[in-house]
Order: sequence, then structure tokens, then C-alpha cells
Amino acid sequence: MQDKEIMERTRRTEWFRHDRFGMFIHWGLYAIPARGEWVRSTEEMPEEPYLAYFREFTADRYDPKEWARLARQAGMRYAVLTAKHHDGFCLFDSQLTDYKSTNTPCGRDLVREFLDAFRAEGLKVGLYYSLLDWHHPDYPHFGDQNHPLRNHPEEGNEGRDFSRYLAYMHGQIRELLTNYGRLDVMWFDFSYGDMKCETWKAAELMEMVRSLQPHILIDNRLEGSGESSGSILTEHPTPYAGDFACPEQMIPPEGMRNTAGDPIPWEACLTLNNNWGYAAGDRHYKSARMVVRTLVECVSKGGNLLLNVGPNARGEIPEESAAVLRQVGAWMAKNGASIYGCGPAGLPKPEWGRLTRRGNTLYAHVLEEQAGAVCLPGLAGKVARMRRLEDGSEIPQKEHWNLREYPEYASFFLNPSTSDSYPLPDPMDTVVELTLREE
Ligand code: GLC
Repeated sequence: MQDKEIMERTRRTEWFRHDRFGMFIHWGLYAIPARGEWVRSTEEMPEEPYLAYFREFTADRYDPKEWARLARQAGMRYAVLTAKHHDGFCLFDSQLTDYKSTNTPCGRDLVREFLDAFRAEGLKVGLYYSLLDWHHPDYPHFGDQNHPLRNHPEEGNEGRDFSRYLAYMHGQIRELLTNYGRLDVMWFDFSYGDMKCETWKAAELMEMVRSLQPHILIDNRLEGSGESSGSILTEHPTPYAGDFACPEQMIPPEGMRNTAGDPIPWEACLTLNNNWGYAAGDRHYKSARMVVRTLVECVSKGGNLLLNVGPNARGEIPEESAAVLRQVGAWMAKNGASIYGCGPAGLPKPEWGRLTRRGNTLYAHVLEEQAGAVCLPGLAGKVARMRRLEDGSEIPQKEHWNLREYPEYASFFLNPSTSDSYPLPDPMDTVVELTLREE
């Protein structure tokens, strides 16, 4: 990738770096056993018992309009659905397989309905497509790292023709990119061992994707995974390095830069409980407060958050997830200006919270109650005015007797009348908007 291509990447990712918050949706047959989307692999389950789920999948309460409304109300601006996960089951009406939602009792093209509903709510849309495929006969079985039948020598790989699998995979991706209108993100998952890069015919695939939808954003997992980001981290990314890195179940401690020190676009993907796919016994949900703070952390480091929900077999987003998203949405409705279009402040991380910034506007995310003033290092004399973002109320700039020896700091009190410790107005994250003086 040359400088010109990096410039194009910067242009392509503009909306993405602006929007910051998206919904990830992991949904498929695995919602029936309800032990996560890897169930076939972790339990080394043969095909036949899994096909029972195919024969009973009704998704009778699938109402993507409701999902889309929930995502929009949560302040999410884009969404990515698993069109095919590792189990190989397709949520779309592919002409290249019978293993698809239209052939289950549900009988619907779930991808098409998802796209229509989310676009109608004004959200950008993306599709996840698994490079792994545990259903396709030409995908390596015995000896593969992940395949459910990896320990079955009788499932040897003679007669399996990987090039046939590649033709299938490229063909399905072509279907998704030609039959479903404009897509904003293509999220491939994932590479491991030798199963990476040209094993997927990645250069050819990239060319096809870009020729069909030149604006589309592509993740970096034709080369990488949650374990390794690939050449997007270098100064000379390959043609299939992707447009953004996608750290998984973690937030990079200092954001993400390439070896030249330039920031690269990234998106942390995170589960809301401990599973991507629906897991009936997993009640370990993150609180709304934690989600808000995690989102703020991502933005303060120049990244996005793609937050996952795992709808159940009938097609409903679990109420626990929906409840958290509604609370996040209430915060976003008041404080979204400190997220959208924002990035790092270029200042050290303060002790009491985080900073985000858009141009000359700085957002102080006060997460911890302070015994006294909230101090802003390096900003003495630079602040024109301060307002609580949520209600626009003034936070006066005052000289205070016990701060006289600290003139290099700007500071404020959340309780204007006293320097006493004072409960934060918003325990999730109290945001103060600081308008900086023109230099
Ligand atoms: C992984 C997992 C997977 C999940 C994904 C999300 O690599 O294999 O189940 O879809 O990450 O990032």
C-alpha cells in the first residue's frame, strides 16, 4: 500500500472515524443450543446433531425493525450482522448452498430484512462473513485447528479441494456485494496459522470487493485476527491489510499506531455479556456505566466500539442487553456530542477520567468524584468557557484560594458554591464541554 492508498483509506474511513459506535450482531443456528457460536467446535459436535437445529430454526419473533430502533436509540450509527459464521450456515438466500435460512422453517432472507430495517433507521450497514466454514466439504476437517471434526482421522482431507471452497467463498461474497445494495462494511473473520493472506486468495478477493463497492470498508482479518493485526501496523500494508484494525475483547492501552507512529483506524469489538452468540446461561452483562466508559475510552484513544448482541433462537435481542442499550442511549442522547466526530485530545490522560476532543472543543469526562477541584493540566488561560454538556449550564471559571499555587492548571468545580467533595451529577460520566480560546 502506498501513501496514496493510505490517503484513500483516510478518506474512506471518514464516516467510520466520525460515527464511533456500532452494533455487532451474532446470530445463527447456534442460538438454539445457546452455548455460544463456537458450540460445534468446542463440543466437537458432528454435523448430524447440528442439522437438527437447521430443521427447527423458526426465528418466529425476528423483527429487525425493532433491533434497528434499539441500535439507533442506543446512539449506535452502524451495525454488522453475521451473514455466515464459522458453522457455515447462511442467513441469506445464497444460490451456492442449500444451507441457508430460506431453507429452514423460518423461510426468510434474514440478511435482506436486516439491511432494509437498519437502513430505514438511518444506520450504516455491514456484514460479517466467516472465512472458516465447518459445513463445507472442501474445508479442511481433520487436523485443522478449529474444525469440529479436527480429531477425526477418518475425516481425512483426501478429496477435499480447497480451491473449490475458495470459489464458493468468493462467490458468496460476490453475491452479498451484488444482490443487497450498498454495504458500508465487510467484516471478514478470521486468519490463523497458514490460513491467511493468499491462502484465501486475498488480493483477488480485495480487488473484487473494491471493484463492486469501492467505498466499502474492509477489516484486517484476511491477514489477521484478534491475535494479530497484520501489516496495517506497518508503513507498507499489503493490498489486503484492510481499512481498520479490530482488537477483540480488549481496548488497546494507548490506541493504535503503525510503525511510523501514525494513528490507524481501529474498532474494538466487545461482547455485552461473555459470548458473541446467544448463551442462555450467561448472565454476566456489562453495566451501562461500563459500556459508556468503554466507549469514551475508545474515542479518547482514536478508536470505535462495536458492541455485540446475541439474539436468541426466536430472533429477540435478550431483554438484559436491550435494557443496557436503552440506558446507554439515554446517556448518548445528552452527551453524544462528546463522542461523534471526536478523537484524542492530545493531552495526558487526567486522573479523574478521560478527555475527548473535536477541533477546539474539549470534553472532560469526569468519572471520579474529586475532593476539590477538577484540574486540567496544561490548559491555564486557554479555556474560553465551560458548560455541562447535558444541560448547557455554565461552569464558572473562578480563581480559588487553595489553587493559587497551581497556576498552570485550569480547573473547575462541579459544585459551583463549594470546594467540598460533591457527588457527580451523572454517575455514569459527567461531561463538561470546554471551548478553547482561538490560539
Ligand atoms: C472471533 C470468533 C468469533 C467472533 C469474532 C468476533 O474471532 O471466532 O466467534 O465472531 O471473533 O470478533
